[in-house]
Amino acid sequence: MSAPAPTVDHGERSLEDVLRAWDGEHAELRHDHASGAWMFVCIHSTRLGPAAGGTRIGVYDSPAEGLADAMRLAAAMTRKLAVADLPFGGGKAVLAVREIPRGEKRRRLLHRYGELLDSLGGRFWTGPDMNTDEHDMDLLPYAMVRSRKGGGSGSSAPATAAGVLRGIRASLNHALGSADLQDRVVLVQGMGGVGSHLAELLVEAGARVLINDLDAARVAKVAARMPVEIVASDRVLGTQCNVFAPCAVGGILNERSIPRLRCRIVAGAANNQLATTADGERLRSRGILYAPDYVINAGGSLHGIGLAALSWSGAELDRALNRIGDTLKALYRAADEDGIPTSEAADRLAAARLAQAPERGPTTKSANVDALAPYSTNRKEQEQ
Ligand code: PHE
Repeated sequence: MSAPAPTVDHGERSLEDVLRAWDGEHAELRHDHASGAWMFVCIHSTRLGPAAGGTRIGVYDSPAEGLADAMRLAAAMTRKLAVADLPFGGGKAVLAVREIPRGEKRRRLLHRYGELLDSLGGRFWTGPDMNTDEHDMDLLPYAMVRSRKGGGSGSSAPATAAGVLRGIRASLNHALGSADLQDRVVLVQGMGGVGSHLAELLVEAGARVLINDLDAARVAKVAARMPVEIVASDRVLGTQCNVFAPCAVGGILNERSIPRLRCRIVAGAANNQLATTADGERLRSRGILYAPDYVINAGGSLHGIGLAALSWSGAELDRALNRIGDTLKALYRAADEDGIPTSEAADRLAAARLAQAPERGPTTKSANVDALAPYSTNRKEQEQ
């Protein structure tokens, strides 16, 4: 997605400050002299298995902000995979660049990043994320989502969007008493791979769909294909809707934005939507039902890990996507009963799953890591 780095204000921090503050297991930092990019691979937890998580390419205010983003995202992956019951730990990679590379420059950068992944020898498995897709994954070792041409299962964006749709239905059902989308107003922020797919699914389901992206060309492309209404970026927060579905950058639910929301539900695919944990309570006290991001957006991981590592069939993936709705329903009930924010209910579930797990290291075989062998093929072999 061509979105800027998160707008959360962290002040000035150094790489050392960020490293010192982290509670994760391992961070790999590399400066790519050839391009000036920084590469960060953050392994937050291997308690449930080898680490898995997307590789994001982004432009950040400073290298430290890129590292901090990778770390926050890696921690969210730990919780995401625990709640989704997948035998993998949490990790994430960020390639912090001056500008999003295309063509040959991109290929070369990914090639060098692939060497870094190789050096980790399978301690970190990756998939697409913001500004990367299945074609980029074709160039990398230890990637779980490859293009069909590259011998993989294709983009994970449709599965992520399908999971979010189920989550939106579960949220509507809890907040408004019906999962029906007919004539419900849903505002989708971010027209990247997941956001544009979600808009399409919502239109098919009969919803009135409002869309937004900072990139006007992306909005125009989607609007040319389906009946949607375009919302200007400065109007997103104040626009009345039943469901606000953030599918772009993180940190958008914060002290300043939450008072401006005019929706009943926030349910979207973006990672790390809450700027701070206190924002869960801010949403709750405003009577806004929040679908915890790492619960509702697990579809991409279910697709990547399920199909590649667990040899799932399409039907098994579909059942797993359905469970996203069931999990949310249970979390909403628990949050109501205990009078806590839904985000806290999700954190509790993740913590309980992690606490139950026997101590295991990164060499676990409980995920069929052997099934992943073809995915670790490096580029040289592929080109032969
Ligand atoms: N972008 C995905 C997410 O945030 C990461 C991912 C996709 C990880 C596919 C593994 C496989 O959940």
